[in-house]
Amino acid sequence: MPAMSQTPHLDALFEHLRFPSISTDSTHAGDVRACGEWLAARGKAMGLSAEIHETPGHPVVILKSEPKPDRPTVLIYGHYDVQPVDPLDEWKTPPFEPTLIDGRIFARGSTDNKGQHFAHLCGVEDTLAESGGDLPVNVIFLLEGEEEIGSPNLEPFLKTHAAELKADICAVSDTGMLGPGIPTLTYGLRGISCLEFKVHGPSLDLHSGVYGGAIANPATMVARLVASLHDENGRVQIAGFYDQVEPLADWEREMWASLPDGDAATLAETGAPGIWGEAGYTALEQRWGRPTAEVNGIGGGYQGEGSKTVIPRSAMAKLSFRLVPDQDPNLVLELAAEHLRRHCPSSCRIEIEKGHVGSAYVMDPHSSFGKAAQKALWDTFGEEPRLIREGGSIPIIQAIQEVLGIDSLLLGLALPDCQIHAPNENFTVENFEKGIALNRALLEELGKG
Ligand code: BES
Ligand code: ZN
Repeated sequence: MPAMSQTPHLDALFEHLRFPSISTDSTHAGDVRACGEWLAARGKAMGLSAEIHETPGHPVVILKSEPKPDRPTVLIYGHYDVQPVDPLDEWKTPPFEPTLIDGRIFARGSTDNKGQHFAHLCGVEDTLAESGGDLPVNVIFLLEGEEEIGSPNLEPFLKTHAAELKADICAVSDTGMLGPGIPTLTYGLRGISCLEFKVHGPSLDLHSGVYGGAIANPATMVARLVASLHDENGRVQIAGFYDQVEPLADWEREMWASLPDGDAATLAETGAPGIWGEAGYTALEQRWGRPTAEVNGIGGGYQGEGSKTVIPRSAMAKLSFRLVPDQDPNLVLELAAEHLRRHCPSSCRIEIEKGHVGSAYVMDPHSSFGKAAQKALWDTFGEEPRLIREGGSIPIIQAIQEVLGIDSLLLGLALPDCQIHAPNENFTVENFEKGIALNRALLEELGKG
């Protein structure tokens, strides 16, 4: 229950967080829509124009301030869909009943991304209220409900609505901060290519004693295929995988080396017993600037209690590849599919389903917009911002650059321990409030032209 002392902004954020807007689960499609409608109503109540645009998937919500011709226009992007909540039994509080504990709001989507885009909305709301409806810039909010499933309908939407979305710069708070109180400008994100493969063997589950040895076990083959993705030095073994990779620049490697020990932070944040990965690179370089192959899920055969002696008729794995400039995500999918086909023995049949893709993104943090973002961060947090790249992906950012011709300022507020995509996701009230202040400082700065 919201405490009596909560601010109206926090109460409103709690309302936002109560929608179980899980985009990947079709049983929640109504909740995703309801959440978008709630945002549109909220925008209207603040004095913005609000439109809900249908797509073949979940709706896009556009909120606009009344355009003034002499001012720059800032597009603020966010996503109101969230990741699934499983494993549910690891949540200490129910994921869609936001709960305030020790200055942190626990709820699915609190950081990724409701709390962050809602801070921008609150910043605009406060400025509008205090100024009698006058903002230093024109603002367009672009809020989508499909980011966590790869934004399949947003790029076509950008193309058909490019004129209405015309802006000078895009601002996005959907990335991370190096640590509490450390202002962080992210100037690059990795891209992503996803695929799923299934290995089929016999036409039915077999007795492993009767047939074991003579018939290939699909679970073994999935394990072999997964193992074939890397060598013992952590290098991806797919032919051509590194051909387009832009090497890290010396200045970035030096800048990141000057940050607090990234290997130690990576171990502390993850609880893993040790660092693993491509030889010759630090943990931060691997996470932010090198491409990877990951297994996100693997399954097949008996998973229940005790043993069951069976050769499963099929087994599967879900893979994703994180990409860096200038890798082509579709080409990477082709190369990966070719690798899997080539390594699958003829005693089994492999079925490959390609999934969503998004390119890596990088911008110049020293451009005039980058400098304005740094100034706003400095004003908000009272110290010099750090410049980093990050390993996560926001696939639409590259499309915003290509279709609308504008860069995105990535001003994230996620802390390393806010558990995005995991049980007990949380957002600090402090960062929610800093986000509101950051929006105001940013619009002020960008308004100077
Ligand atoms: N907010 C994240 C992206 C992110 C997280 C960027 C941390 C930088 C630091 C976003 O919501 C996300 O999870 N994106 C997905 C995209 C995918 C589903 C296409 C991702 O990175 O896995
Ligand atoms: Zn996410």
